[in-house]
Amino acid sequence: MKKIDILLGLQWGDEGKGKIVDVVTPDYDVVARFQGGPNAGHSLEFQGIRHVLHIIPSGIFHKDKINIIGNGVVIDPIVFEEEIQALERMGLTPTDNLYISQKAHLILPTHKLLDAAYESKKGDKKIGSTLKGIGPTYTDKTARVGMRVCDVTTPDFEVKFNHLMNQHKEILDQYGFDYSQTLPALEESWRKSLETLRRFTMIESEYVLYEYLQQGKSVLAEGAQGTLLDLDFGAYPFVTSSNTIAAGAFTGLGLSPHLAGKTIGIVKAYCTRVGSGPFPTELFDATGEELRRVGNEFGATTGRPRRCGWLDLVALKYAIMVNGVTDIALTKADVMSGFDTIQVCTAYRVNGELTTRMPAATDAAIEPVYTTVKGWKEDISRCHSYDELPAEFKDYIHFIEKETQTPITIVSVGPDREATLFRK
Ligand code: GDP
Ligand code: IMO
Ligand code: MG
Repeated sequence: MKKIDILLGLQWGDEGKGKIVDVVTPDYDVVARFQGGPNAGHSLEFQGIRHVLHIIPSGIFHKDKINIIGNGVVIDPIVFEEEIQALERMGLTPTDNLYISQKAHLILPTHKLLDAAYESKKGDKKIGSTLKGIGPTYTDKTARVGMRVCDVTTPDFEVKFNHLMNQHKEILDQYGFDYSQTLPALEESWRKSLETLRRFTMIESEYVLYEYLQQGKSVLAEGAQGTLLDLDFGAYPFVTSSNTIAAGAFTGLGLSPHLAGKTIGIVKAYCTRVGSGPFPTELFDATGEELRRVGNEFGATTGRPRRCGWLDLVALKYAIMVNGVTDIALTKADVMSGFDTIQVCTAYRVNGELTTRMPAATDAAIEPVYTTVKGWKEDISRCHSYDELPAEFKDYIHFIEKETQTPITIVSVGPDREATLFRK
């Protein structure tokens, strides 16, 4: 029986998962998304064109590969339709190689409005949600009142839909949230978009993936968000509403943990975060501004500027531990070319005490303790092999490997597929 590999983000999302999934897809038969929804924005680039995916797995541009949206994902049919139309305009026929779990939950129009209503009441405690309806949809899933993909083909769809929408409207009324102008049009386009969803093969991902593995097919599970946004292990409540860690791949696809193969962790050479919440190494100076400008650090889903800062090894080691990471793919070090020195956080001082552990309390005053390493001047985005990289950048790689005790097997030096270096 084949094992399943997992690829996920080890920071606060936007590490470059989409790009790396696209690059490694030729090594797999199947790519399967296991959690999250349209809050994700996974970018990849080839032949000079940038593509951004939100719900559809990043293996979709390889026509001969199967892509699966697992039960752990939440689907907004409107976003799904837009993505499908974009792929069809490119001449792809995603109905051939994209299957959807019948058990995936649906984001209703009112889930998005609830997201906005809840956030607006939080004041300065705002999570900074993408407002795609993620929290309210997972809330309904755990409250056992949600709607699933399989419901769209059943005769009592209308009854269920209206019942849930009415419940949501009652809450919106309590919040004093006026939906009279927005909801009718939103509901109409939501209903229309179901036609696109119904064109797709709906599967039980647990059976299908199990059978693929029995047949010797290789499967890559694609995560969304990042480990530090995990519902349990991120800095709660400044997290998303699903388990983004490796364990989430098994519940989000319906596979046994016995089937775990490699876990590939994607790490940006510095750190970014969108939305609120603790970010110990955040830079508020010209260096942070420079990382944002050169790294084009603006959200792929919301366009919001990303907060930028130095690499945080305390957080990274934690992420490697909770995921059982076997391989690291390091991205975006090309953005750091030109710095004389680079800071890396190797410990925290929390309330005056030195520690290398992540504090559970979100309001803990964390002061990063830095180690300074040499930067590199060369434009590494033009390097075609690992050997060509400047010695200072190789030292940075070795430093991270030594600290994390994890090999960096892929080095990404630009957004394009081609800008990827593999290490033996
Ligand atoms: P994801 O959510 O983890 O898939 O990451 P995003 O797509 O949201 O953000 C990563 C951004 O960095 C995208 O714009 C990518 O095109 C880009 N990117 C990925 N890898 C690299 C890299 O090695 N260098 C540079 N300069 N950009 C990269
Ligand atoms: P990808 O897959 C970065 C952040 C939001 C907010 C918090 C909760 O592209 O890496 P939510 O919409 O889930 O209620 O937002 O999580 N967030 C992300 N940040 N990349 C993402 O996805 C994210 N998805 C959610 O900014 O702080
Ligand atoms: Mg993203």
